[in-house]
Amino acid sequence: MEPLQLREVLMFALALAMVVVAVALASDQIQTLPGCNSTCGNIQIPYPFGVGNSSTQPQQPCYLEPKFHLVCNNSNSNLLWSNLIVLSINGIAHQMDLSFWVARFCNDSYDNNPWIRTADFSVSRKENKFLTVDIPPRMRRISSVQAATFSNSTRDCSYSFLAKHNSYDFSTSHLQSFPYKTLPLVVDWTVGEQNCSRFESSRNEYACKDHSHCNDTDTDIGYRCTCDHGYQGNPYLGCTVKLRYAL
Ligand SMILES: *[C@@H]1O[C@H](CO)[C@@H](O)[C@H](O)[C@H]1NC(C)=O
Ligand SMILES: *[C@@H]1O[C@H](CO)[C@@H](O)[C@H](O)[C@H]1NC(C)=O
Ligand SMILES: *[C@@H]1O[C@H](CO)[C@@H](O)[C@H](O)[C@H]1NC(C)=O
Ligand SMILES: *[C@@H]1O[C@H](CO)[C@@H](O)[C@H](O)[C@H]1NC(C)=O
Ligand SMILES: *[C@@H]1O[C@H](CO)[C@@H](O)[C@H](O)[C@H]1NC(C)=O
Ligand SMILES: *[C@@H]1O[C@H](CO)[C@@H](O)[C@H](O)[C@H]1NC(C)=O
Ligand SMILES: *[C@@H]1O[C@H](CO)[C@@H](O)[C@H](O)[C@H]1NC(C)=O
Repeated sequence: MEPLQLREVLMFALALAMVVVAVALASDQIQTLPGCNSTCGNIQIPYPFGVGNSSTQPQQPCYLEPKFHLVCNNSNSNLLWSNLIVLSINGIAHQMDLSFWVARFCNDSYDNNPWIRTADFSVSRKENKFLTVDIPPRMRRISSVQAATFSNSTRDCSYSFLAKHNSYDFSTSHLQSFPYKTLPLVVDWTVGEQNCSRFESSRNEYACKDHSHCNDTDTDIGYRCTCDHGYQGNPYLGCTVKLRYAL
Protein backbone atom coordinates (compact mmCIF):
# COMPACT_ATOMS: atom_id res chain seq x y z
CA MET A 1 0.00 0.00 0.00
CA GLU A 2 1.22 3.49 -0.84
CA PRO A 3 1.63 5.76 2.23
CA LEU A 4 -1.05 8.10 0.93
CA GLN A 5 -3.57 5.30 0.53
CA LEU A 6 -2.84 4.00 4.01
CA ARG A 7 -3.48 7.45 5.44
CA GLU A 8 -6.77 7.67 3.58
CA VAL A 9 -7.85 4.29 4.88
CA LEU A 10 -6.99 5.32 8.42
CA MET A 11 -8.87 8.60 8.03
CA PHE A 12 -11.88 6.72 6.72
CA ALA A 13 -11.74 4.24 9.62
CA LEU A 14 -11.48 7.11 12.10
CA ALA A 15 -14.44 8.90 10.52
CA LEU A 16 -16.46 5.68 10.66
CA ALA A 17 -15.58 5.18 14.34
CA MET A 18 -16.75 8.72 15.06
CA VAL A 19 -20.06 8.03 13.34
CA VAL A 20 -20.52 4.86 15.42
CA VAL A 21 -19.87 6.85 18.60
CA ALA A 22 -22.25 9.61 17.53
CA VAL A 23 -25.03 7.11 16.74
CA ALA A 24 -24.52 5.31 20.04
CA LEU A 25 -24.66 8.60 21.96
CA ALA A 26 -27.74 9.76 20.08
CA SER A 27 -29.64 6.51 20.64
CA ASP A 28 -29.02 6.72 24.39
CA GLN A 29 -30.78 10.03 24.44
CA ILE A 30 -33.98 8.82 22.81
CA GLN A 31 -36.43 8.96 25.68
CA THR A 32 -39.76 9.50 23.95
CA LEU A 33 -41.88 8.02 21.18
CA PRO A 34 -41.38 9.64 17.74
CA GLY A 35 -43.21 12.95 17.42
CA CYS A 36 -43.53 13.47 21.18
CA ASN A 37 -42.14 16.32 23.28
CA SER A 38 -39.22 15.21 25.44
CA THR A 39 -39.31 18.21 27.77
CA CYS A 40 -41.70 20.67 29.37
CA GLY A 41 -39.82 23.77 30.47
CA ASN A 42 -36.56 22.25 31.69
CA ILE A 43 -38.07 18.98 32.92
CA GLN A 44 -37.26 15.79 31.01
CA ILE A 45 -40.18 13.50 30.18
CA PRO A 46 -38.92 9.92 29.73
CA TYR A 47 -41.32 7.37 28.24
CA PRO A 48 -43.55 5.69 29.62
CA PHE A 49 -44.52 9.23 30.70
CA GLY A 50 -45.72 11.52 27.95
CA VAL A 51 -47.68 14.62 27.05
CA GLY A 52 -50.57 14.50 24.57
CA ASN A 53 -50.51 12.64 21.27
CA SER A 54 -47.68 12.10 18.84
CA SER A 55 -47.46 14.76 16.12
CA THR A 56 -46.47 12.10 13.54
CA GLN A 57 -48.63 9.30 12.08
CA PRO A 58 -50.07 7.27 13.69
CA GLN A 59 -51.07 9.93 16.19
CA GLN A 60 -50.88 7.60 19.16
CA PRO A 61 -50.71 8.75 22.79
CA CYS A 62 -47.19 9.74 23.89
CA TYR A 63 -47.63 7.80 27.13
CA LEU A 64 -47.87 4.07 27.78
CA GLU A 65 -50.95 4.05 30.00
CA PRO A 66 -53.31 6.77 31.25
CA LYS A 67 -51.50 6.90 34.60
CA PHE A 68 -48.40 8.21 32.77
CA HIS A 69 -50.31 10.98 31.05
CA LEU A 70 -48.88 14.41 31.92
CA VAL A 71 -50.03 17.87 30.94
CA CYS A 72 -47.60 20.62 30.02
CA ASN A 73 -48.86 24.13 30.62
CA ASN A 74 -47.06 25.94 27.81
CA SER A 75 -47.74 29.37 29.29
CA ASN A 76 -45.86 28.80 32.56
CA SER A 77 -43.95 25.56 31.70
CA ASN A 78 -45.50 23.67 34.60
CA LEU A 79 -45.68 19.94 34.06
CA LEU A 80 -48.70 18.44 35.80
CA TRP A 81 -49.57 14.93 36.92
CA SER A 82 -53.17 14.91 38.06
CA ASN A 83 -53.47 17.97 40.34
CA LEU A 84 -49.78 18.19 41.23
CA ILE A 85 -46.71 19.84 39.70
CA VAL A 86 -43.97 17.45 38.59
CA LEU A 87 -40.46 18.49 39.71
CA SER A 88 -38.50 15.66 38.07
CA ILE A 89 -38.84 12.13 36.68
CA ASN A 90 -36.16 9.49 37.11
CA GLY A 91 -36.48 6.77 34.48
CA ILE A 92 -33.81 4.52 35.99
CA ALA A 93 -34.80 4.67 39.68
CA HIS A 94 -38.49 4.70 38.68
CA GLN A 95 -39.29 7.70 40.83
CA MET A 96 -41.08 10.98 40.32
CA ASP A 97 -40.75 14.06 42.52
CA LEU A 98 -43.94 16.05 42.96
CA SER A 99 -44.67 19.33 44.64
CA PHE A 100 -47.08 18.32 47.40
CA TRP A 101 -49.26 20.46 49.65
CA VAL A 102 -48.52 21.02 53.31
CA ALA A 103 -51.65 20.41 55.39
CA ARG A 104 -52.64 23.39 57.53
CA PHE A 105 -54.86 22.91 60.55
CA CYS A 106 -56.20 26.14 61.99
CA ASN A 107 -58.77 26.73 64.70
CA ASP A 108 -60.00 23.12 64.70
CA SER A 109 -60.31 22.63 60.97
CA TYR A 110 -58.14 21.91 57.95
CA ASP A 111 -58.10 24.86 55.61
CA ASN A 112 -56.70 22.85 52.74
CA ASN A 113 -57.01 19.24 51.79
CA PRO A 114 -53.88 17.73 50.28
CA TRP A 115 -54.64 14.72 48.18
CA ILE A 116 -52.78 12.57 45.72
CA ARG A 117 -53.91 9.90 43.27
CA THR A 118 -51.87 7.21 45.02
CA ALA A 119 -54.03 4.46 43.61
CA ASP A 120 -51.77 4.82 40.55
CA PHE A 121 -48.37 5.13 42.19
CA SER A 122 -47.18 4.61 45.75
CA VAL A 123 -45.65 7.13 48.07
CA SER A 124 -42.02 6.12 48.44
CA ARG A 125 -41.39 4.69 51.87
CA LYS A 126 -37.65 4.94 51.48
CA GLU A 127 -37.47 8.48 50.14
CA ASN A 128 -39.99 10.38 52.27
CA LYS A 129 -40.63 11.27 55.88
CA PHE A 130 -43.91 12.08 57.55
CA LEU A 131 -42.38 14.65 59.83
CA THR A 132 -40.16 12.32 61.84
CA VAL A 133 -42.52 9.37 61.74
CA ASP A 134 -41.83 6.64 59.20
CA ILE A 135 -44.41 6.04 56.56
CA PRO A 136 -46.16 2.68 56.96
CA PRO A 137 -45.12 0.14 54.32
CA ARG A 138 -46.73 0.60 50.94
CA MET A 139 -48.84 3.58 51.85
CA ARG A 140 -51.64 4.20 49.39
CA ARG A 141 -54.75 6.27 48.98
CA ILE A 142 -54.02 9.11 51.31
CA SER A 143 -57.16 11.11 51.00
CA SER A 144 -56.00 13.70 53.44
CA VAL A 145 -52.92 13.89 55.57
CA GLN A 146 -53.55 13.85 59.29
CA ALA A 147 -51.70 16.21 61.52
CA ALA A 148 -48.76 15.56 63.72
CA THR A 149 -48.56 18.87 65.48
CA PHE A 150 -45.77 21.12 66.53
CA SER A 151 -46.21 21.92 70.19
CA ASN A 152 -47.28 25.54 70.53
CA SER A 153 -47.42 25.76 66.80
CA THR A 154 -48.03 28.98 64.91
CA ARG A 155 -50.66 30.66 67.03
CA ASP A 156 -53.77 28.70 66.14
CA CYS A 157 -52.32 26.73 63.25
CA SER A 158 -50.39 23.50 62.92
CA TYR A 159 -48.82 21.96 59.87
CA SER A 160 -48.19 18.43 58.76
CA PHE A 161 -46.65 17.05 55.66
CA LEU A 162 -45.17 14.16 53.88
CA ALA A 163 -41.90 15.17 52.26
CA LYS A 164 -38.73 13.98 50.60
CA HIS A 165 -35.82 13.31 52.97
CA ASN A 166 -33.73 16.41 53.60
CA SER A 167 -36.13 18.67 51.75
CA TYR A 168 -37.25 20.12 55.08
CA ASP A 169 -34.99 21.56 57.78
CA PHE A 170 -36.70 22.39 61.02
CA SER A 171 -36.15 25.84 62.44
CA THR A 172 -37.67 27.23 65.63
CA SER A 173 -38.82 30.21 63.57
CA HIS A 174 -41.29 27.81 61.92
CA LEU A 175 -43.23 27.76 65.20
CA GLN A 176 -44.00 31.43 64.63
CA SER A 177 -44.56 31.32 60.91
CA PHE A 178 -44.39 28.30 58.65
CA PRO A 179 -42.75 29.25 55.34
CA TYR A 180 -43.85 26.43 53.02
CA LYS A 181 -47.09 25.84 51.17
CA THR A 182 -45.64 22.87 49.28
CA LEU A 183 -42.70 20.50 49.72
CA PRO A 184 -41.25 17.83 47.41
CA LEU A 185 -42.74 14.34 47.68
CA VAL A 186 -41.32 11.22 45.99
CA VAL A 187 -43.55 8.57 44.43
CA ASP A 188 -42.40 5.19 43.10
CA TRP A 189 -43.89 4.26 39.75
CA THR A 190 -44.50 0.96 38.03
CA VAL A 191 -46.20 -0.10 34.82
CA GLY A 192 -49.32 -2.27 34.57
CA GLU A 193 -51.25 -3.67 37.47
CA GLN A 194 -49.88 -7.19 37.59
CA ASN A 195 -46.51 -8.66 38.44
CA CYS A 196 -43.86 -10.27 36.25
CA SER A 197 -45.27 -13.78 36.57
CA ARG A 198 -48.18 -12.70 34.39
CA PHE A 199 -45.80 -12.49 31.41
CA GLU A 200 -44.31 -15.94 31.75
CA SER A 201 -47.15 -17.39 29.69
CA SER A 202 -48.06 -14.42 27.49
CA ARG A 203 -46.18 -11.37 26.27
CA ASN A 204 -49.40 -9.56 25.50
CA GLU A 205 -49.04 -5.90 26.56
CA TYR A 206 -45.56 -6.56 27.93
CA ALA A 207 -43.87 -3.17 28.33
CA CYS A 208 -40.23 -4.33 28.49
CA LYS A 209 -38.71 -3.86 25.03
CA ASP A 210 -35.48 -5.09 23.39
CA HIS A 211 -32.66 -6.13 25.74
CA SER A 212 -34.63 -5.50 28.92
CA HIS A 213 -36.34 -7.66 31.50
CA CYS A 214 -39.23 -7.57 33.93
CA ASN A 215 -38.45 -6.77 37.57
CA ASP A 216 -41.01 -6.75 40.37
CA THR A 217 -38.68 -6.61 43.35
CA ASP A 218 -40.13 -4.24 45.96
CA THR A 219 -43.30 -3.46 44.03
CA ASP A 220 -46.73 -3.98 45.48
CA ILE A 221 -48.57 -3.53 42.22
CA GLY A 222 -47.28 -3.57 38.64
CA TYR A 223 -43.70 -4.11 37.52
CA ARG A 224 -40.62 -2.30 36.23
CA CYS A 225 -38.42 -2.88 33.23
CA THR A 226 -34.64 -2.90 33.60
CA CYS A 227 -32.04 -2.99 30.81
CA ASP A 228 -30.16 -6.28 30.59
CA HIS A 229 -26.57 -6.38 31.81
CA GLY A 230 -24.31 -4.61 29.30
CA TYR A 231 -27.18 -2.55 27.87
CA GLN A 232 -28.40 0.94 28.64
CA GLY A 233 -31.09 3.39 27.68
CA ASN A 234 -34.85 3.37 28.13
CA PRO A 235 -36.15 -0.19 28.65
CA TYR A 236 -39.67 0.89 27.67
CA LEU A 237 -38.38 1.83 24.19
CA GLY A 238 -35.55 -0.71 23.91
CA CYS A 239 -32.06 -0.76 25.38
CA THR A 240 -28.87 -0.44 23.33
CA VAL A 241 -25.49 -1.99 23.89
CA LYS A 242 -23.23 0.02 26.18
CA LEU A 243 -20.66 2.05 24.29
CA ARG A 244 -17.64 0.30 25.81
CA TYR A 245 -19.02 -2.98 24.46
CA ALA A 246 -19.67 -1.48 21.01
CA LEU A 247 -16.10 -0.42 20.31
C1 LIG B 1 -55.28 11.46 20.95
O1 LIG B 1 -55.73 10.51 20.01
C2 LIG B 1 -56.89 9.78 20.42
C3 LIG B 1 -57.19 8.75 19.35
O2 LIG B 1 -56.03 8.07 18.98
C4 LIG B 1 -58.04 10.74 20.60
O3 LIG B 1 -59.16 10.03 21.07
C5 LIG B 1 -57.66 11.81 21.61
O4 LIG B 1 -58.68 12.76 21.72
C6 LIG B 1 -56.36 12.50 21.21
N1 LIG B 1 -55.96 13.38 22.29
C7 LIG B 1 -55.49 14.61 22.06
C8 LIG B 1 -55.08 15.39 23.25
O5 LIG B 1 -55.41 15.08 20.93
C1 LIG C 1 -44.69 20.39 22.19
O1 LIG C 1 -43.88 21.53 22.43
C2 LIG C 1 -44.17 22.62 21.58
C3 LIG C 1 -43.17 23.72 21.89
O2 LIG C 1 -42.97 23.87 23.26
C4 LIG C 1 -45.62 23.07 21.80
O3 LIG C 1 -45.93 24.13 20.91
C5 LIG C 1 -46.56 21.90 21.54
O4 LIG C 1 -47.88 22.26 21.85
C6 LIG C 1 -46.16 20.72 22.42
N1 LIG C 1 -46.98 19.57 22.12
C7 LIG C 1 -47.75 18.99 23.04
C8 LIG C 1 -48.51 17.79 22.59
O5 LIG C 1 -47.81 19.42 24.18
C1 LIG D 1 -51.37 27.57 32.90
O1 LIG D 1 -50.59 28.66 33.33
C2 LIG D 1 -51.30 29.89 33.36
C3 LIG D 1 -50.31 30.98 33.72
O2 LIG D 1 -49.68 30.72 34.95
C4 LIG D 1 -52.48 29.77 34.34
O3 LIG D 1 -53.20 30.98 34.32
C5 LIG D 1 -53.37 28.61 33.91
O4 LIG D 1 -54.41 28.44 34.85
C6 LIG D 1 -52.58 27.34 33.81
N1 LIG D 1 -53.42 26.26 33.29
C7 LIG D 1 -53.50 25.07 33.88
C8 LIG D 1 -54.36 24.07 33.21
O5 LIG D 1 -52.92 24.81 34.92
C1 LIG E 1 -58.59 31.55 64.95
O1 LIG E 1 -59.59 32.02 65.81
C2 LIG E 1 -59.23 33.22 66.54
C3 LIG E 1 -60.33 33.53 67.54
O2 LIG E 1 -61.55 33.15 67.02
C4 LIG E 1 -59.00 34.36 65.55
O3 LIG E 1 -58.63 35.53 66.22
C5 LIG E 1 -57.90 33.93 64.60
O4 LIG E 1 -57.71 34.95 63.60
C6 LIG E 1 -58.24 32.62 63.91
N1 LIG E 1 -57.10 32.20 63.12
C7 LIG E 1 -57.17 31.88 61.83
C8 LIG E 1 -55.87 31.52 61.15
O5 LIG E 1 -58.21 31.86 61.21
C1 LIG F 1 -47.14 26.71 75.22
O1 LIG F 1 -47.11 28.06 75.56
C2 LIG F 1 -47.72 28.36 76.81
C3 LIG F 1 -47.73 29.87 77.02
O2 LIG F 1 -46.97 30.54 76.08
C4 LIG F 1 -46.98 27.62 77.93
O3 LIG F 1 -47.60 27.89 79.17
C5 LIG F 1 -47.00 26.14 77.64
O4 LIG F 1 -46.24 25.45 78.59
C6 LIG F 1 -46.45 25.84 76.24
N1 LIG F 1 -46.62 24.43 75.95
C7 LIG F 1 -45.66 23.66 75.43
C8 LIG F 1 -46.01 22.23 75.18
O5 LIG F 1 -44.55 24.10 75.15
C1 LIG G 1 -47.98 -12.28 41.21
O1 LIG G 1 -49.39 -12.19 41.00
C2 LIG G 1 -50.04 -13.42 41.21
C3 LIG G 1 -51.50 -13.27 40.81
O2 LIG G 1 -51.97 -11.96 40.93
C4 LIG G 1 -49.86 -13.83 42.68
O3 LIG G 1 -50.51 -15.07 42.92
C5 LIG G 1 -48.39 -13.97 42.99
O4 LIG G 1 -48.20 -14.24 44.37
C6 LIG G 1 -47.65 -12.69 42.64
N1 LIG G 1 -46.21 -12.91 42.77
C7 LIG G 1 -45.40 -12.06 43.38
C8 LIG G 1 -43.96 -12.39 43.39
O5 LIG G 1 -45.81 -11.04 43.93
C1 LIG H 1 -34.65 -5.29 40.28
O1 LIG H 1 -34.77 -3.98 40.85
C2 LIG H 1 -34.07 -3.80 42.06
C3 LIG H 1 -34.39 -2.41 42.56
O2 LIG H 1 -35.76 -2.23 42.70
C4 LIG H 1 -32.59 -3.99 41.82
O3 LIG H 1 -31.88 -3.85 43.02
C5 LIG H 1 -32.34 -5.36 41.23
O4 LIG H 1 -30.97 -5.47 40.88
C6 LIG H 1 -33.17 -5.58 39.98
N1 LIG H 1 -33.03 -6.95 39.54
C7 LIG H 1 -32.82 -7.26 38.27
C8 LIG H 1 -32.71 -8.72 37.93
O5 LIG H 1 -32.75 -6.43 37.39
